[in-house]
Amino acid sequence: MGHGGNVIEELMADHHEVKELFAQIEAQPVGHPQRRELADRLTAELVRHSVAEEMHLYPAVREHVRDGAVLADKELADHA
Ligand SMILES: [Fe+2]
Repeated sequence: MGHGGNVIEELMADHHEVKELFAQIEAQPVGHPQRRELADRLTAELVRHSVAEEMHLYPAVREHVRDGAVLADKELADHA
């Protein structure tokens, strides 16, 4: 996370970055070393991002959004 930035903006930028990484991975032939390297980066990015959402976003969703608990539980299941 950046310092003092908007959490939602950070998380949305992560989503964009992850989509880009997926596209880059799909552009590489299976077995290409670059594909493995990109997949490793994507894995690290997704773990970091999921932890950030679980720490900062879902607690607020549970508290402030109608049916937020159901929504947060579904997102947690998706991450798993
Ligand atoms: Fe996310």
